[in-house]
Amino acid sequence: MIKDLSSQFSLLHPLLADIRSVTTQNDRARFRENIELIGQYIGFEISKTLSSREREVTTPLGKAQCKVLASQPVIATILRAGLPLHMGLLRAFPNADNGVLSAYRKHSDETHFEICLQYASCPPLEGRTLILNDPMLATGKSMIAVLRELQAYGTPKETHLVSVIASKQGVEVVEKAFPKVTIWTAAIDTALNDKGYIIPGLGDAGDLAFGCGTHLSSLKTGS
Ligand code: URA
Repeated sequence: MIKDLSSQFSLLHPLLADIRSVTTQNDRARFRENIELIGQYIGFEISKTLSSREREVTTPLGKAQCKVLASQPVIATILRAGLPLHMGLLRAFPNADNGVLSAYRKHSDETHFEICLQYASCPPLEGRTLILNDPMLATGKSMIAVLRELQAYGTPKETHLVSVIASKQGVEVVEKAFPKVTIWTAAIDTALNDKGYIIPGLGDAGDLAFGCGTHLSSLKTGS
């Protein structure tokens, strides 16, 4: 299932304009803060679908029947671009458990690459609510590789995937491989270029958040 949050105007739209625009996106602190806010807002949308339980609290003047989350989700991210989105989701779910995985594109040439996973740490997922985030759902290859890796941690009760910008193709590929997941995105763009970047997208989310990074493997092959 796809939840395209761009279909109705919300505060997500001006944040997206800010992170896409070449005139504002190069302010790294602002870029990260915008992505954190997007994560927080998407977390709020997801929260409307989660199970709650009653909790009675004592106010200075009486007793109030309140609702709280029935259980804490596990929020997992893909290094390094996922970090600001992850922190935003944690603002929405401050007591969540956390998973951290790393994935990088290992290029055999300019346009061909495979996804390599290097690091994974995650609590058991059996019966839990999993919220896996990656800001750019481009080809869908990283999301699928990470979802497969996470199968070793148990079967979640429900899985929510969060991206800031998704490509139509990426959404289709992930839905085909994992039909039960719900994909939440602030925008869906129509194209991918031959390097697997989303068009118009915003460029490289990891570089914009943290500065240019080169994986050691590409230094070794000289690509
Ligand atoms: N990763 C990015 O940072 N941007 C894209 O467009 C695709 C993958």
